[in-house]
Amino acid sequence: MKKTVKDIDVRGKKIIARCDFNVPQKEGEITDDTRIRAALPTIEYLIEEGAAVILMSHLGRPEGEPNMKYTLKPVAKRLSELLGKEVIFAESPVVVDDDVRAKATSLKAGEVMLLENVRFRKEETKNGPEFAKELASLADIFVNDAFGTAHRAHASTAGVADYLPAVSGFLIEKEVKFLGNAVENPKRPFVAIMGGAKVGDKISVIENLLKKVDTLIIGGGMAYTFYKALGYEIGTSILDKDSIDLAKSLLKRAEEKGVKLLIPVDVLCAKEFKNEAETLICDSDDMPEDMMGMDIGPKTIELYKKEIERAQTVVWNGPMGVFEMENFAKGTLEIAKALGESEAVTIIGGGDSAAAVEQFGLADKMTHISTGGGASLEFLEGKELPGIAVLEEK
Ligand code: 3PG
Repeated sequence: MKKTVKDIDVRGKKIIARCDFNVPQKEGEITDDTRIRAALPTIEYLIEEGAAVILMSHLGRPEGEPNMKYTLKPVAKRLSELLGKEVIFAESPVVVDDDVRAKATSLKAGEVMLLENVRFRKEETKNGPEFAKELASLADIFVNDAFGTAHRAHASTAGVADYLPAVSGFLIEKEVKFLGNAVENPKRPFVAIMGGAKVGDKISVIENLLKKVDTLIIGGGMAYTFYKALGYEIGTSILDKDSIDLAKSLLKRAEEKGVKLLIPVDVLCAKEFKNEAETLICDSDDMPEDMMGMDIGPKTIELYKKEIERAQTVVWNGPMGVFEMENFAKGTLEIAKALGESEAVTIIGGGDSAAAVEQFGLADKMTHISTGGGASLEFLEGKELPGIAVLEEK
């Protein structure tokens, strides 16, 4: 177990806390502040306990150059609204300079300041020790609460822990508790639902989950690679060519391990990749040559819903179809609804499935929605995330 902010004395200390404020924006406006809200419990705790709080984050991928398209200024504004108090924005194209150092030195207990996007510095993603040292020099203690970036060994997520005592915030604690328990200590039946386009992207997760689950449900674009592995016609559906053998071996391994591996029994096909395209529902082994699979079909929805009803733990990562198009969102929506109605512990891996659940207004019906896309996948693969590995043990 990692130490959290509760295991140390933060009163009167300067804390540098890494958050994941990598939030979507449109024309300078934040369109989804979930990640900022998710960081509030730790920030509010530090304020209440009388620490001076210096926050840092990345936003987008500015590739080591200052680029105002990726400034954290809008985040400072939003955070200040959510906290109901001023958040000092330490504007600097190099993140840490004399002015920022002076601001950090004079920061008082209960005050909050946000540094500029750490990825304005080349050393950040290279985990350069000089930059890590610069960040560490601003504070007494490092708190990592950026679960969404914990799979990156960067200066602000890992390197800084070489120079300061390092503990976790409440968000990382919560993510590790839910994702970790689901995989290591699940109530059974344990069902994992994997979707998305490519088997190749999810192979390590599927391999790891095959060792743990009772049922593995496959949906989304990756289903057609499994069809190909079984010798079915897939028409013009998306195919992850390099993973056909992999799909074959996964089917075999599931059988050997006694894991029920379900692939869609029917498909909603379309003539073209567009919402208004002509459609057809067909059985999995009966797809027309000139159509592509866009969603799971009605029989599959019923079959998968039954599995979800029986489950005690469900982990879901990846949509069932092209849910961004209304006419092909039904499979993903019905699965989300079934999860919302289920009594099971329901864990939503970040990324697309989290976005889908938000879009359908079902977020508050889930036990836990991870704030990490890539990070939650790597966690489910059984990997130790670098941003967590560096934190002190209890
Ligand atoms: C994410 O959105 O997945 C995290 O913020 C990490 O961002 P990155 O993939 O650019 O490292």
